[in-house]
Amino acid sequence: MPVDVVLGLQWGDEGKGKIVDFLAPDYDVVARFQGGPNAGHTLYVNGQKLVLHSIPSGVLHERPLNLIGNGVVLDPAQFHHEVMHLAALGIDLHRNVLVSERAHLILPTHRLLDAASEQRKGTGRIGSTLRGISPAYTDKYARNGLRVGDIRFPDFQSRYESLRDRHLKQLNDADTAELNQQEAAWWQGIDTLRSFRLVAGEYFLNEVLSAGKSVLAEGAQGTMLDVDFGTYPYVTSSHTIAGGACTGLGIPPSAVRSVFGVIKAYCTRVGSGPFPTELDDTLGNRLREAGQEYGATTGRPRRCGWLDLVAVRYAALLSGVSQLMVTKADVLSGFDPLSICVAYEWNGRQTTEFPFDPVRQQPQPVYHTIPGWHLGKNEKGNDCLYAFLDLIARHVGVPVSHVSTGPERNQLIPLPA
Ligand code: IMP
Repeated sequence: MPVDVVLGLQWGDEGKGKIVDFLAPDYDVVARFQGGPNAGHTLYVNGQKLVLHSIPSGVLHERPLNLIGNGVVLDPAQFHHEVMHLAALGIDLHRNVLVSERAHLILPTHRLLDAASEQRKGTGRIGSTLRGISPAYTDKYARNGLRVGDIRFPDFQSRYESLRDRHLKQLNDADTAELNQQEAAWWQGIDTLRSFRLVAGEYFLNEVLSAGKSVLAEGAQGTMLDVDFGTYPYVTSSHTIAGGACTGLGIPPSAVRSVFGVIKAYCTRVGSGPFPTELDDTLGNRLREAGQEYGATTGRPRRCGWLDLVAVRYAALLSGVSQLMVTKADVLSGFDPLSICVAYEWNGRQTTEFPFDPVRQQPQPVYHTIPGWHLGKNEKGNDCLYAFLDLIARHVGVPVSHVSTGPERNQLIPLPA
Protein backbone atom coordinates (compact mmCIF):
# COMPACT_ATOMS: atom_id res chain seq x y z
CA MET A 1 0.00 0.00 0.00
CA PRO A 2 2.71 2.51 -0.80
CA VAL A 3 2.60 6.20 -1.54
CA ASP A 4 5.59 7.51 -3.46
CA VAL A 5 6.11 11.25 -3.74
CA VAL A 6 7.61 13.25 -6.60
CA LEU A 7 8.74 16.76 -5.78
CA GLY A 8 11.10 19.47 -6.95
CA LEU A 9 14.19 20.28 -4.88
CA GLN A 10 14.95 23.70 -6.37
CA TRP A 11 12.82 26.74 -7.27
CA GLY A 12 10.33 24.86 -9.43
CA ASP A 13 10.48 23.97 -13.13
CA GLU A 14 12.72 20.96 -12.46
CA GLY A 15 10.84 18.79 -14.96
CA LYS A 16 8.48 17.07 -12.53
CA GLY A 17 5.75 16.71 -15.17
CA LYS A 18 7.96 14.55 -17.35
CA ILE A 19 8.98 12.39 -14.39
CA VAL A 20 5.38 11.88 -13.23
CA ASP A 21 4.32 11.06 -16.79
CA PHE A 22 7.16 8.49 -16.92
CA LEU A 23 6.31 6.87 -13.58
CA ALA A 24 2.49 7.07 -13.83
CA PRO A 25 1.85 3.71 -15.57
CA ASP A 26 3.26 1.93 -12.48
CA TYR A 27 0.63 3.45 -10.15
CA ASP A 28 -3.12 3.14 -9.60
CA VAL A 29 -3.59 6.79 -8.67
CA VAL A 30 -1.64 10.00 -9.36
CA ALA A 31 -2.60 12.78 -6.92
CA ARG A 32 -1.63 16.47 -6.98
CA PHE A 33 -1.26 17.68 -3.40
CA GLN A 34 -0.64 21.45 -3.41
CA GLY A 35 -0.37 24.60 -5.48
CA GLY A 36 -2.68 25.57 -8.27
CA PRO A 37 -2.52 26.96 -11.77
CA ASN A 38 0.73 28.75 -10.91
CA ALA A 39 2.25 25.38 -11.89
CA GLY A 40 3.03 24.47 -15.47
CA HIS A 41 3.88 20.80 -15.86
CA THR A 42 5.16 20.19 -19.35
CA LEU A 43 4.82 16.83 -21.06
CA TYR A 44 6.11 15.90 -24.50
CA VAL A 45 4.37 13.10 -26.29
CA ASN A 46 5.48 12.16 -29.79
CA GLY A 47 7.07 15.57 -30.16
CA GLN A 48 3.90 17.36 -29.10
CA LYS A 49 4.15 19.73 -26.12
CA LEU A 50 1.38 19.74 -23.52
CA VAL A 51 1.32 22.02 -20.46
CA LEU A 52 -0.86 21.03 -17.50
CA HIS A 53 -1.60 23.60 -14.80
CA SER A 54 -4.19 22.04 -12.48
CA ILE A 55 -4.56 18.52 -13.83
CA PRO A 56 -2.24 15.78 -12.49
CA SER A 57 0.43 14.60 -14.94
CA GLY A 58 -0.79 10.98 -15.13
CA VAL A 59 -3.78 11.74 -17.35
CA LEU A 60 -2.21 10.56 -20.59
CA HIS A 61 -2.04 6.95 -19.41
CA GLU A 62 -4.62 4.17 -19.25
CA ARG A 63 -3.91 2.92 -15.76
CA PRO A 64 -3.95 5.59 -13.09
CA LEU A 65 -6.88 7.58 -11.86
CA ASN A 66 -5.87 11.19 -11.21
CA LEU A 67 -6.93 13.10 -8.13
CA ILE A 68 -6.80 16.85 -7.57
CA GLY A 69 -6.19 16.80 -3.82
CA ASN A 70 -7.58 18.91 -0.99
CA GLY A 71 -4.28 20.84 -0.70
CA VAL A 72 -4.70 22.28 -4.19
CA VAL A 73 -6.35 25.61 -4.96
CA LEU A 74 -8.45 25.25 -8.09
CA ASP A 75 -9.50 27.95 -10.53
CA PRO A 76 -12.66 26.65 -12.27
CA ALA A 77 -12.07 28.86 -15.34
CA GLN A 78 -8.55 27.48 -15.80
CA PHE A 79 -9.79 23.95 -15.11
CA HIS A 80 -12.47 24.34 -17.81
CA HIS A 81 -9.85 25.62 -20.23
CA GLU A 82 -7.61 22.59 -19.62
CA VAL A 83 -10.50 20.15 -19.87
CA MET A 84 -11.50 21.64 -23.24
CA HIS A 85 -7.93 21.75 -24.51
CA LEU A 86 -7.41 18.06 -23.76
CA ALA A 87 -10.84 17.18 -25.14
CA ALA A 88 -9.77 18.78 -28.42
CA LEU A 89 -6.81 16.38 -28.42
CA GLY A 90 -9.19 13.46 -27.95
CA ILE A 91 -8.57 13.06 -24.19
CA ASP A 92 -11.71 12.94 -22.06
CA LEU A 93 -10.72 13.75 -18.49
CA HIS A 94 -14.08 12.60 -17.10
CA ARG A 95 -12.74 9.07 -17.50
CA ASN A 96 -9.82 9.40 -15.11
CA VAL A 97 -9.89 12.68 -13.14
CA LEU A 98 -11.45 13.07 -9.68
CA VAL A 99 -11.52 16.25 -7.62
CA SER A 100 -11.38 16.47 -3.83
CA GLU A 101 -14.42 18.23 -2.43
CA ARG A 102 -12.08 19.86 0.10
CA ALA A 103 -9.91 21.65 -2.48
CA HIS A 104 -10.35 25.41 -2.25
CA LEU A 105 -11.63 27.54 -5.11
CA ILE A 106 -9.78 30.48 -6.64
CA LEU A 107 -12.25 33.29 -7.39
CA PRO A 108 -11.76 35.90 -10.13
CA THR A 109 -11.32 38.49 -7.38
CA HIS A 110 -8.45 36.44 -5.92
CA ARG A 111 -6.55 37.20 -9.11
CA LEU A 112 -7.33 40.90 -8.76
CA LEU A 113 -6.18 40.84 -5.14
CA ASP A 114 -2.95 39.13 -6.21
CA ALA A 115 -2.26 41.88 -8.76
CA ALA A 116 -3.12 44.64 -6.26
CA SER A 117 -0.85 43.11 -3.61
CA GLU A 118 2.08 42.88 -6.02
CA GLN A 119 1.52 46.46 -7.14
CA ARG A 120 1.50 47.66 -3.53
CA LYS A 121 4.78 45.87 -2.85
CA GLY A 122 6.54 47.81 -5.65
CA THR A 123 10.20 46.86 -5.85
CA GLY A 124 9.67 44.29 -3.07
CA ARG A 125 7.20 42.32 -5.21
CA ILE A 126 7.39 38.55 -5.07
CA GLY A 127 7.12 38.08 -8.82
CA SER A 128 3.90 36.09 -8.37
CA THR A 129 2.37 34.31 -11.33
CA LEU A 130 -0.74 36.42 -10.56
CA ARG A 131 -2.98 33.36 -10.65
CA GLY A 132 -4.66 34.25 -7.34
CA ILE A 133 -2.76 31.60 -5.39
CA SER A 134 -1.77 33.62 -2.33
CA PRO A 135 -5.20 35.31 -1.83
CA ALA A 136 -6.94 31.91 -2.19
CA TYR A 137 -4.70 30.31 0.44
CA THR A 138 -5.08 33.42 2.61
CA ASP A 139 -8.87 32.97 2.54
CA LYS A 140 -8.44 29.27 3.30
CA TYR A 141 -6.41 29.96 6.44
CA ALA A 142 -8.55 32.96 7.41
CA ARG A 143 -11.48 30.50 7.19
CA ASN A 144 -13.33 32.50 4.57
CA GLY A 145 -12.70 30.21 1.60
CA LEU A 146 -15.09 28.38 -0.69
CA ARG A 147 -14.42 24.72 -1.38
CA VAL A 148 -15.17 22.53 -4.38
CA GLY A 149 -17.81 20.61 -2.37
CA ASP A 150 -19.68 23.87 -1.70
CA ILE A 151 -20.79 24.06 -5.33
CA ARG A 152 -23.36 21.33 -4.62
CA PHE A 153 -25.34 23.45 -2.15
CA PRO A 154 -28.17 25.82 -3.08
CA ASP A 155 -26.60 28.74 -1.20
CA PHE A 156 -23.37 28.55 -3.27
CA GLN A 157 -24.13 31.58 -5.43
CA SER A 158 -24.91 33.79 -2.43
CA ARG A 159 -21.78 32.58 -0.61
CA TYR A 160 -19.77 33.37 -3.75
CA GLU A 161 -21.26 36.85 -3.97
CA SER A 162 -20.61 37.64 -0.35
CA LEU A 163 -16.94 36.60 -0.62
CA ARG A 164 -16.59 38.50 -3.92
CA ASP A 165 -18.09 41.63 -2.34
CA ARG A 166 -15.73 41.35 0.60
CA HIS A 167 -12.85 41.24 -1.90
CA LEU A 168 -14.22 44.22 -3.84
CA LYS A 169 -14.20 46.28 -0.64
CA GLN A 170 -10.55 45.34 -0.11
CA LEU A 171 -9.72 46.27 -3.69
CA ASN A 172 -10.92 49.88 -3.41
CA ASP A 173 -10.09 51.54 -6.71
CA ALA A 174 -8.20 48.60 -8.23
CA ASP A 175 -9.06 47.71 -11.80
CA THR A 176 -12.21 45.57 -11.87
CA ALA A 177 -13.21 46.45 -15.45
CA GLU A 178 -12.97 42.89 -16.75
CA LEU A 179 -14.61 41.26 -13.76
CA ASN A 180 -17.94 40.54 -15.48
CA GLN A 181 -16.23 38.68 -18.27
CA GLN A 182 -14.03 36.77 -15.84
CA GLU A 183 -17.05 35.83 -13.75
CA ALA A 184 -18.85 34.41 -16.80
CA ALA A 185 -15.84 32.17 -17.55
CA TRP A 186 -15.66 31.21 -13.87
CA TRP A 187 -19.30 30.10 -13.71
CA GLN A 188 -18.82 28.13 -16.90
CA GLY A 189 -15.93 26.44 -15.07
CA ILE A 190 -18.20 25.68 -12.11
CA ASP A 191 -20.57 23.90 -14.52
CA THR A 192 -17.65 21.89 -15.88
CA LEU A 193 -16.58 21.03 -12.34
CA ARG A 194 -20.11 19.79 -11.60
CA SER A 195 -19.74 17.26 -14.42
CA PHE A 196 -16.74 15.64 -12.66
CA ARG A 197 -16.62 13.15 -9.82
CA LEU A 198 -16.19 15.22 -6.64
CA VAL A 199 -14.95 12.92 -3.92
CA ALA A 200 -13.80 12.75 -0.31
CA GLY A 201 -10.20 12.38 -1.45
CA GLU A 202 -8.99 11.27 1.97
CA TYR A 203 -11.41 8.30 2.06
CA PHE A 204 -10.81 7.52 -1.59
CA LEU A 205 -7.01 7.38 -1.18
CA ASN A 206 -7.02 5.47 2.08
CA GLU A 207 -9.35 2.88 0.54
CA VAL A 208 -7.04 2.63 -2.46
CA LEU A 209 -4.12 2.01 -0.12
CA SER A 210 -6.03 -0.52 2.01
CA ALA A 211 -6.80 -2.45 -1.15
CA GLY A 212 -3.03 -2.81 -1.69
CA LYS A 213 -2.93 -0.34 -4.56
CA SER A 214 -0.33 2.35 -5.13
CA VAL A 215 -0.40 6.15 -5.21
CA LEU A 216 2.04 8.63 -6.73
CA ALA A 217 1.79 12.03 -5.03
CA GLU A 218 2.72 14.86 -7.41
CA GLY A 219 4.18 18.06 -6.00
CA ALA A 220 4.22 21.42 -7.71
CA GLN A 221 6.71 24.32 -7.53
CA GLY A 222 9.83 23.36 -5.56
CA THR A 223 11.21 23.06 -2.04
CA MET A 224 12.93 26.44 -2.15
CA LEU A 225 9.49 28.00 -2.72
CA ASP A 226 7.96 26.25 0.33
CA VAL A 227 6.13 28.76 2.53
CA ASP A 228 8.08 27.66 5.64
CA PHE A 229 11.43 26.50 4.33
CA GLY A 230 11.87 28.41 1.09
CA THR A 231 13.49 31.81 0.64
CA TYR A 232 10.74 33.61 2.56
CA PRO A 233 9.03 35.92 1.72
CA TYR A 234 9.92 35.11 -1.91
CA VAL A 235 7.99 31.85 -1.86
CA THR A 236 4.65 30.44 -2.87
CA SER A 237 1.83 29.93 -0.35
CA SER A 238 1.81 26.16 0.11
CA HIS A 239 3.90 23.30 1.50
CA THR A 240 5.95 21.95 -1.36
CA ILE A 241 7.90 19.43 0.76
CA ALA A 242 6.98 15.75 1.26
CA GLY A 243 5.01 16.60 4.42
CA GLY A 244 2.67 18.57 2.16
CA ALA A 245 1.61 15.30 0.50
CA CYS A 246 0.13 14.09 3.82
CA THR A 247 -1.81 17.28 4.61
CA GLY A 248 -2.63 17.92 0.96
CA LEU A 249 -4.14 14.48 0.40
CA GLY A 250 -5.23 13.21 3.82
CA ILE A 251 -2.84 10.26 3.97
CA PRO A 252 -0.74 9.23 7.00
CA PRO A 253 3.06 9.78 6.97
CA SER A 254 3.48 6.04 7.58
CA ALA A 255 2.03 5.37 4.11
CA VAL A 256 4.91 7.13 2.35
CA ARG A 257 7.52 4.74 0.92
CA SER A 258 9.85 6.61 -1.44
CA VAL A 259 10.42 10.27 -2.16
CA PHE A 260 11.76 11.05 -5.63
CA GLY A 261 13.57 14.40 -5.63
CA VAL A 262 13.77 16.03 -9.05
CA ILE A 263 16.59 18.47 -9.83
CA LYS A 264 17.69 20.20 -12.96
CA ALA A 265 21.40 19.78 -13.83
CA TYR A 266 21.66 23.53 -13.34
CA CYS A 267 19.38 25.96 -11.57
CA THR A 268 16.59 28.35 -12.53
CA ARG A 269 14.26 30.68 -10.75
CA VAL A 270 11.36 32.74 -12.04
CA GLY A 271 10.22 35.77 -10.10
CA SER A 272 12.10 37.72 -7.44
CA GLY A 273 14.16 36.53 -4.50
CA PRO A 274 17.58 35.21 -3.58
CA PHE A 275 19.38 32.94 -6.02
CA PRO A 276 22.98 32.49 -4.82
CA THR A 277 24.34 30.80 -7.97
CA GLU A 278 22.60 33.09 -10.48
CA LEU A 279 24.60 33.88 -13.62
CA ASP A 280 23.56 37.40 -14.50
CA ASP A 281 25.78 37.44 -17.60
CA THR A 282 26.26 35.96 -21.07
CA LEU A 283 26.73 32.47 -19.63
CA GLY A 284 23.33 32.78 -17.92
CA ASN A 285 21.79 33.95 -21.19
CA ARG A 286 23.40 31.02 -22.99
CA LEU A 287 21.90 28.61 -20.44
CA ARG A 288 18.45 30.23 -20.85
CA GLU A 289 18.53 29.78 -24.61
CA ALA A 290 20.01 26.26 -24.49
CA GLY A 291 17.37 25.14 -21.97
CA GLN A 292 14.55 27.27 -23.41
CA GLU A 293 14.06 28.60 -19.90
CA TYR A 294 10.87 30.57 -20.25
CA GLY A 295 7.98 30.11 -17.79
CA ALA A 296 5.47 27.41 -18.83
CA THR A 297 2.68 29.41 -17.14
CA THR A 298 3.63 33.05 -17.65
CA GLY A 299 6.22 32.91 -20.45
CA ARG A 300 8.60 34.99 -18.32
CA PRO A 301 12.34 34.46 -18.91
CA ARG A 302 13.73 32.35 -16.08
CA ARG A 303 16.83 33.43 -14.20
CA CYS A 304 19.57 30.83 -14.74
CA GLY A 305 22.63 29.72 -12.79
CA TRP A 306 24.84 26.82 -11.72
CA LEU A 307 23.62 23.83 -9.75
CA ASP A 308 23.40 24.68 -6.05
CA LEU A 309 24.02 21.59 -3.93
CA VAL A 310 23.60 23.50 -0.65
CA ALA A 311 19.97 24.09 -1.58
CA VAL A 312 19.53 20.53 -2.89
CA ARG A 313 21.01 19.00 0.29
CA TYR A 314 18.67 21.12 2.39
CA ALA A 315 15.69 20.10 0.27
CA ALA A 316 16.61 16.41 0.41
CA LEU A 317 16.84 16.61 4.20
CA LEU A 318 13.43 18.28 4.57
CA SER A 319 11.65 15.59 2.57
CA GLY A 320 13.71 12.47 3.31
CA VAL A 321 14.46 12.13 -0.38
CA SER A 322 15.32 8.51 -1.25
CA GLN A 323 16.52 9.00 -4.83
CA LEU A 324 17.43 11.90 -7.10
CA MET A 325 16.33 12.28 -10.68
CA VAL A 326 18.47 14.73 -12.66
CA THR A 327 16.83 16.44 -15.64
CA LYS A 328 18.07 18.47 -18.58
CA ALA A 329 21.62 17.06 -18.59
CA ASP A 330 21.55 17.53 -22.38
CA VAL A 331 21.24 21.31 -21.92
CA LEU A 332 24.64 21.46 -20.18
CA SER A 333 26.27 19.59 -23.07
CA GLY A 334 29.00 21.85 -24.44
CA PHE A 335 29.31 23.95 -21.28
CA ASP A 336 32.90 23.24 -20.31
CA PRO A 337 34.09 23.57 -17.58
CA LEU A 338 31.09 23.30 -15.24
CA SER A 339 30.77 24.88 -11.83
CA ILE A 340 28.80 23.30 -9.00
CA CYS A 341 28.14 25.09 -5.74
CA VAL A 342 29.12 22.83 -2.83
CA ALA A 343 29.13 25.36 0.04
CA TYR A 344 28.44 29.02 0.84
CA GLU A 345 30.57 31.78 2.30
CA TRP A 346 28.02 33.34 4.58
CA ASN A 347 28.31 35.76 7.46
CA GLY A 348 32.10 35.41 7.57
CA ARG A 349 32.25 31.61 7.52
CA GLN A 350 31.93 28.67 5.17
CA THR A 351 28.80 26.57 5.55
CA THR A 352 26.91 23.78 3.82
CA GLU A 353 23.66 24.77 5.52
CA PHE A 354 21.02 26.96 3.92
CA PRO A 355 20.86 30.23 5.88
CA PHE A 356 17.84 31.75 7.64
CA ASP A 357 17.75 35.01 5.73
CA PRO A 358 19.60 34.91 2.41
CA VAL A 359 17.78 38.13 1.48
CA ARG A 360 19.52 40.41 3.99
CA GLN A 361 22.73 38.38 4.31
CA GLN A 362 23.51 37.08 0.86
CA PRO A 363 25.53 33.87 0.66
CA GLN A 364 28.46 33.66 -1.78
CA PRO A 365 28.72 30.31 -3.56
CA VAL A 366 31.86 28.18 -3.18
CA TYR A 367 32.29 26.32 -6.45
CA HIS A 368 33.77 22.99 -7.40
CA THR A 369 34.80 22.95 -11.06
CA ILE A 370 34.68 19.87 -13.28
CA PRO A 371 35.09 19.20 -17.00
CA GLY A 372 31.84 19.29 -18.96
CA TRP A 373 30.43 16.72 -21.38
CA HIS A 374 29.51 16.77 -25.03
CA LEU A 375 26.55 14.58 -25.80
CA GLY A 376 26.20 13.48 -29.37
CA LYS A 377 22.82 12.71 -30.88
CA ASN A 378 21.27 9.62 -29.26
CA GLU A 379 24.44 9.13 -27.24
CA LYS A 380 23.72 7.93 -23.73
CA GLY A 381 26.31 10.04 -22.02
CA ASN A 382 29.95 9.98 -21.18
CA ASP A 383 32.30 9.77 -18.25
CA CYS A 384 32.15 13.48 -17.40
CA LEU A 385 28.36 13.28 -17.05
CA TYR A 386 28.68 10.26 -14.77
CA ALA A 387 31.37 12.01 -12.70
CA PHE A 388 28.97 14.96 -12.33
CA LEU A 389 26.14 12.66 -11.17
CA ASP A 390 28.50 10.94 -8.76
CA LEU A 391 29.52 14.30 -7.29
CA ILE A 392 25.86 15.20 -6.75
CA ALA A 393 25.13 11.89 -5.02
CA ARG A 394 28.16 12.24 -2.73
CA HIS A 395 27.41 15.81 -1.68
CA VAL A 396 23.70 15.25 -1.16
CA GLY A 397 24.08 11.79 0.37
CA VAL A 398 21.31 10.39 -1.85
CA PRO A 399 21.78 8.18 -4.95
CA VAL A 400 20.90 9.41 -8.42
CA SER A 401 18.49 6.89 -9.96
CA HIS A 402 17.78 8.50 -13.33
CA VAL A 403 19.20 11.14 -15.64
CA SER A 404 17.20 12.80 -18.35
CA THR A 405 18.87 13.76 -21.62
CA GLY A 406 15.91 15.21 -23.53
CA PRO A 407 12.24 16.06 -23.25
CA GLU A 408 10.75 12.80 -24.55
CA ARG A 409 9.67 9.91 -22.31
CA ASN A 410 12.35 7.60 -23.70
CA GLN A 411 15.13 10.07 -22.88
CA LEU A 412 15.22 9.14 -19.20
CA ILE A 413 18.14 6.85 -18.45
CA PRO A 414 18.01 4.59 -15.35
CA LEU A 415 21.35 4.35 -13.55
CA PRO A 416 22.70 1.24 -11.86
CA ALA A 417 22.01 1.21 -8.09
P1 IMP B 1 2.71 32.53 -6.71
O1 IMP B 1 2.70 31.14 -6.17
O2 IMP B 1 2.06 32.64 -8.05
O3 IMP B 1 2.20 33.54 -5.74
O4 IMP B 1 4.23 32.93 -6.95
C1 IMP B 1 5.16 33.04 -5.88
C2 IMP B 1 6.57 32.77 -6.37
O5 IMP B 1 6.67 31.39 -6.75
C3 IMP B 1 6.96 33.57 -7.61
O6 IMP B 1 8.36 33.82 -7.54
C4 IMP B 1 6.67 32.62 -8.75
O7 IMP B 1 7.45 32.91 -9.89
C5 IMP B 1 7.06 31.30 -8.12
N1 IMP B 1 6.33 30.17 -8.68
C6 IMP B 1 5.04 29.85 -8.46
N2 IMP B 1 4.72 28.74 -9.13
C7 IMP B 1 5.83 28.35 -9.77
C8 IMP B 1 6.14 27.22 -10.61
O8 IMP B 1 5.31 26.34 -10.87
N3 IMP B 1 7.42 27.16 -11.08
C9 IMP B 1 8.36 28.09 -10.75
N4 IMP B 1 8.11 29.13 -9.98
C10 IMP B 1 6.86 29.26 -9.48
